[in-house]
Amino acid sequence: MEKVKRPKIVVTPPGPKARKFIERDRAVTSTSLTRTAPLVGAEEEGVWVKDIDGNVFLDFSSGIAVTNIGHRHPKVVEAIKRQSDKLIFVNSCDFYTLPQVELMERLCEVTPGKFKKRVFLGNSGTEAVEAALKIAQWNTRNYYVLAFIGGFHGRTMGSLQLTTTSVAARRHFKGMMQGVFHVPYAYCYRCPFKQEYPECGLWCVEYIEETMLKKVIPPDDLACLIVEPIQGAEGYIVPPDDYLPALVKLCKKHNIIFVADEVQTGFCRTGKWFACEHWGVEPDIITLSKALAAGLPCGAAVSRAELMEWDPGAHENTLGGNPVVCEAALATLDVLEKERLDQNAERVGGYLLKRIKELSEKHELIGDARGKGMMIGIEFVEDQRTKKPATKQRNALMNEAFKRGLVLLGAGASSLRLAPPLVLTKEQADVGLEIFGEALEKVERDI
Ligand SMILES: Cc1ncc(COP(=O)(O)O)c(C=O)c1O
Repeated sequence: MEKVKRPKIVVTPPGPKARKFIERDRAVTSTSLTRTAPLVGAEEEGVWVKDIDGNVFLDFSSGIAVTNIGHRHPKVVEAIKRQSDKLIFVNSCDFYTLPQVELMERLCEVTPGKFKKRVFLGNSGTEAVEAALKIAQWNTRNYYVLAFIGGFHGRTMGSLQLTTTSVAARRHFKGMMQGVFHVPYAYCYRCPFKQEYPECGLWCVEYIEETMLKKVIPPDDLACLIVEPIQGAEGYIVPPDDYLPALVKLCKKHNIIFVADEVQTGFCRTGKWFACEHWGVEPDIITLSKALAAGLPCGAAVSRAELMEWDPGAHENTLGGNPVVCEAALATLDVLEKERLDQNAERVGGYLLKRIKELSEKHELIGDARGKGMMIGIEFVEDQRTKKPATKQRNALMNEAFKRGLVLLGAGASSLRLAPPLVLTKEQADVGLEIFGEALEKVERDI
């Protein structure tokens, strides 16, 4: 792909070729897919994506936190080519391969906690979550699960029961896993208990102990508690610093398995390898996917070793641990480490958040700006006092930015999530901010 310093819009997107393609796609694709923008990708490199009409976009979404090391990193391309020249598939139910064991060893090393661990490899985030649920149920012989309102954990029948970001994902699905209880998350900008932090004394955690565990679910009937360290699909909601440690303390006190879903927060996105590390938290089970293999299908549940010492046949799959995918994942981990993308996420992400906060002082529409590393949430409101969600304005802003060559991602009722590839430079961040500012001003003028 040609080198660019700014987006290049040669025809207002979607251009004629993209429109034709989208028509074909519409005729055959499941209508359940939502699609963020009419972008038909043709080439990609680093932070740039070129569509089939020749427009080049600056990507502030990373395919929802997948291309953390940048699109089509040469090391990953090389690893895929090298491995596919030798061996493409061995069913992990039946036999062994070297890339698979190497990846599992690396995941044991990089994930939080120095204790002995075991790994189950799958193909997606939802599979990682399903594995975690099964591990918890198998060990405790219980099936009740505590999850959080606004949490996103996947869309298969088990993980869907945990997901509560929108009713559209849940409506009409029956016969899902039973026994999931949802409690409010520490969404302090819109506290569900109408309290103020820190005066609340973390009432949302106390509520779990005082109400849920005393009146609704006996703790010894629980299989696990599952939580995103920073809620993703709800709008990059960062909890207060004492929240995760308080949840862990509660789990330890009542002997509840603590599962951290780091499918979106993992692999340096937040400025640390895993978001749990911001708060010194070591989960019993951690679920991973998205950025793990830089876009190839890969997911993993990593747990304390003793939790994954279950009966042969208790859980398996066909394509998990595919050697080409594992080599891509190993190359991804190398790049994250060698290029110190945790540090770049913190540095450039910190700069982005500072600039967005400055913008929020001048623009009434920005109600809240929050984040860690390159996981930044911007929440739009019609009125700073009532905090009425400015959904129409958020959507219009995404559209205006897209027309100018910046890809943004929506979340929650009226938020944006900025999740650029972690290789983003300060200069590229400035280009994105300039377009974001222009789009914001246009929306303020028009709506
Ligand atoms: C935190 C979290 N868990 C699980 C999932 C499900 O992952 P997948 O779409 O790969 O099934 C997602 C996807 O966005 C996620 O953000």
